[in-house]
Amino acid sequence: MVNTIAHLMSSYPFIHYSCLSFVTLIISFRVYCQHFVWTKCVPKNSMKGKTVVITGANSGVGKETARELALKGARVVMGCRDRHSAQQLIQQMNKDLAFKPNIVYKNIDLCSFASVKEFAEDIIQNERSVDILINNAAVFGPPFALTVDGFESQFQTNHLSSALLTLLLSPKLQTSSQMSSHRSRVLMITSTLYRKGVIDENDFKKGYASLDNYDKRKAYNNSKLANILFARRLHKNIVSDNQLIDVLIASPGIVWTNLGRHLMLKWWQKCVLLPFAVMFVRTPKQGAQTPVHCTTAQSITSDSLYRNCCPQEWDAIVSDSVLSDKVYELTIKAIENYLK
Ligand SMILES: NC(=O)c1ccc[n+]([C@@H]2O[C@H](COP(=O)([O-])OP(=O)(O)OC[C@H]3O[C@@H](n4cnc5c(N)ncnc54)[C@H](OP(=O)(O)O)[C@@H]3O)[C@@H](O)[C@H]2O)c1
Repeated sequence: MVNTIAHLMSSYPFIHYSCLSFVTLIISFRVYCQHFVWTKCVPKNSMKGKTVVITGANSGVGKETARELALKGARVVMGCRDRHSAQQLIQQMNKDLAFKPNIVYKNIDLCSFASVKEFAEDIIQNERSVDILINNAAVFGPPFALTVDGFESQFQTNHLSSALLTLLLSPKLQTSSQMSSHRSRVLMITSTLYRKGVIDENDFKKGYASLDNYDKRKAYNNSKLANILFARRLHKNIVSDNQLIDVLIASPGIVWTNLGRHLMLKWWQKCVLLPFAVMFVRTPKQGAQTPVHCTTAQSITSDSLYRNCCPQEWDAIVSDSVLSDKVYELTIKAIENYLK
């Protein structure tokens, strides 16, 4: 195969130059994005004295975000279900750094409300403060499954459990802001695919989801849309209760992580996608820049969607306050037994 390609290229210089131009174009586009679009998080402030709780910190964007925040001096609580890979990161950081990073692992499985509650109670009891909560963990397109609580697994992992964790930790975030005289932050990691989502009341009903009309991609989009609408209404509640918490949504861009583990691409699909991947797909470190910016920047705008470290205009779909109220109500109803 390689020989045939080499032979074709030497026999037909046109093919040779076309390929070379194509590769140059792709690489130039990536270099352009890296320098001018995928901005780097600028604030260099120390995070010393601040505690960050981040879910899904053993992989991809969450792992890089946790690492960068620990490097900036924050106490980082990694909420993960995979003890082994979380501890590997901690060991690696202990080995590589001249100082001992303040980073710990605690178990959480977002497919179980009981596990989320246990995690939150552990944090409330054992952490002095929680200054920033980053709801990062998510799954994309797994085969159909119901959680132990009876909800479709993506919807519970990506939306319901993140909402539960946020509400359980809200009093702690509030007291931490009073103690530190800095506003606390809740950060939701989203995806632009929320634009393709719809709000379906059935997603919020226990035992309702079934394999019959399951579309795994739509389930992801719906969960991400619900997440943002919930966050926007949460912000309203916080403002009306005079709480000192900011709510931010961060989009990391398209990132090369384990998120695509359930995408079963054929070899030819991978070949077709390769040039696009080289052009558009960020490394986890590049993907972590916006979450790190939203966590560390001194001046941020609450109730904003950040992309490439800058606030963006809201789309019409997430500006519908009636829909946002409805999502909030449906979410509370789905998780109410665990809020007590
Ligand atoms: N990658 C992208 O292109 C992209 C684009 C837009 C938005 N995002 C968003 O970025 C965030 C991070 O994703 P990623 O790309 O870094 O993917 P990733 O590498 O797969 O990381 C996802 C993390 O979520 C954790 N997780 C999944 N289900 C969980 C559960 N039930 N309980 C506890 N933890 C669970 C995973 O843990 P395990 O390792 O144990 O599975 C993993 O640590 C997600 O919110 C995703 O929607 C990603």
